[in-house]
Formats: sequence, C-alpha cells, structure tokens
Amino acid sequence: MTDQPKFVIEHLSVTYEDGTEPLRDVSLTIYANEITVLFGPAGGGKSTLLRTLNRLNDLVDGVRFSGRVLLDGQDIYAPGVDVTALRRRVGMVFAVPVVLPMSIRQNLTYGLELAGVRDRARLNAAAKHSLERAALWDEVKDRLDDPAIALSGGQQQRLCLARVLALEPEVILLDEPTSGLDPISTAKVEESLQQLKRDYTIVIVPHSIQQAARIADRAAFILQGELIEHGPGAQLFTRPQDKRTEDYVTGRFG
Ligand SMILES: Nc1ncnc2c1ncn2[C@@H]1O[C@H](COP(=O)(O)OP(=O)(O)O)[C@@H](O)[C@H]1O
Ligand SMILES: [Mg+2]
Repeated sequence: MTDQPKFVIEHLSVTYEDGTEPLRDVSLTIYANEITVLFGPAGGGKSTLLRTLNRLNDLVDGVRFSGRVLLDGQDIYAPGVDVTALRRRVGMVFAVPVVLPMSIRQNLTYGLELAGVRDRARLNAAAKHSLERAALWDEVKDRLDDPAIALSGGQQQRLCLARVLALEPEVILLDEPTSGLDPISTAKVEESLQQLKRDYTIVIVPHSIQQAARIADRAAFILQGELIEHGPGAQLFTRPQDKRTEDYVTGRFG
C-alpha cells in the first residue's frame, strides 16, 4: 500500500430531488495504486458514492451535494471544473457491458478519435496496449475488425475495461463489473485489476462479499447511506470493529 491519497472525500452528503439522502456525511480517503472496495447491502448508496467521484450524479435532475471531493488536492465540484476532462481522468466500467455497435478495434479507438487523435499507428498501438492490459489481447488479436457484439459477455466486459484504459485514465471506477459473468471471466477481470493497480487507482463495488475479501487492499462498509467502517481489507474482513460490519461480513444479514 502506498499511503498516497488520490481522492479525499470530506463530509459528503447527497440528496435526491424526492428528499432521499443516499449518502450522509461520508468522509473517506482513497489511496493511489490500491484497490478500494465499497461494499454493503443493496440500496445503501455505493453506486451513488462511486458516481460522485466522476460527477456522473450531476446528470440526475435535482440532485444536491454538500461537502468536498478532492482529487489530487483539487475540489472536483469547484466552479469551473472541466467535467469532460475529469471523466477522462476518472473512467468508469458498469455492471452490464455496453459495447458500441462497431468493431472491436473501433470500440477502443473511438474515444481517442473523438479527442482528436488521427494517427493510425498511434490508434492501433493504443488499442493493442489497452487490450493487453485488460487481459483480452490473446483472445481477439486475430479478429480486431469483427463486430464487438459477437464477443462473449466476459469478453465484452473486458473490452469495456480496455475502452476506459485506452483513454489513459488515472482512476478506474467499476460498479459490480462481474455481476453478469461466469467464474472464469470473473477471475480474469480480478487478475487484470491486480496488474492495473500498479499504474492506476481502482475503486470497485464488488458483486459479492467473497469478491470483496479477495481483492480489497482497503474496504469501506456502507449501510443505508452511512460509512460504517473502513480500513485495510485484511482487517475489515477478519476483525471488523463495528458489530454491523461483523454481522454483514459473517452473513448474518444482507
Ligand atoms: N435518481 C434517484 N432519485 C431518487 N432516489 C435514487 C436515485 N438513484 C438512486 N436512488 C436511491 O438512492 C439510494 C442509494 O442507491 P444506490 O447508490 O444505487 O445504492 P447501491 O449501489 O448501494 O445499491 C437507494 O435508496 C436508491 O433507491
Ligand atoms: Mg449499486
């Protein structure tokens, strides 16, 4: 573990238009080059917290925020922040892989082309590099111009991860990325995350407590909008300090 703060979340509260408060007074530091796991029962606010980190919640009508979210010391909610640039720095992979209706290669180069990159060699190199990093290259290298939709679910999810990597983010957010995948694809995604944390900061909502325990360098237990407990994964899953965390990790509820 590096102890280099990447995100510092201070007293963050989120309120939706209907008055629900999916997060209340959450303070949490997310460290660089680690896997931080946000876990807890459904409806607790995990996805909301994740989406706060690249301002995807901004898209929800009537949402309100209080507190601060600092990325490398800069408040990402400050006036004048370039949200598009922020979302490139902080990429996101969702539960259901959404590949674009184009070839495997184009799925990877599309974002760069939108950003103005035209050099073919550079685009191809970015496609290859990101596929390697997402542990997909060997499976698709001979059919890069086939439609992405023809890939298996597990391959599509790794393609989505590769697409995020092609934009060279600093942080990767993943919201239950393996919930629809078989155990082998799940293991591949988990393996690639272990490699990727050397170069990136990773924040993930796992699809199970077992996955949380397998991959967490650090973990945060979130229950009904509150951060109950956080710390090194090894501690949280074996010696939780709070009774509610203990009940959850031992399977007494949730
Ligand atoms: N756009 C919205 N408007 C109102 N309530 C919402 C909205 N999105 C999510 N919620 C509510 O916020 C709470 C937290 O949701 P979420 O962050 O998705 O939890 P989790 O990912 O832990 O399951 C839930 O009660 C959910 O119903
Ligand atoms: Mg969720």
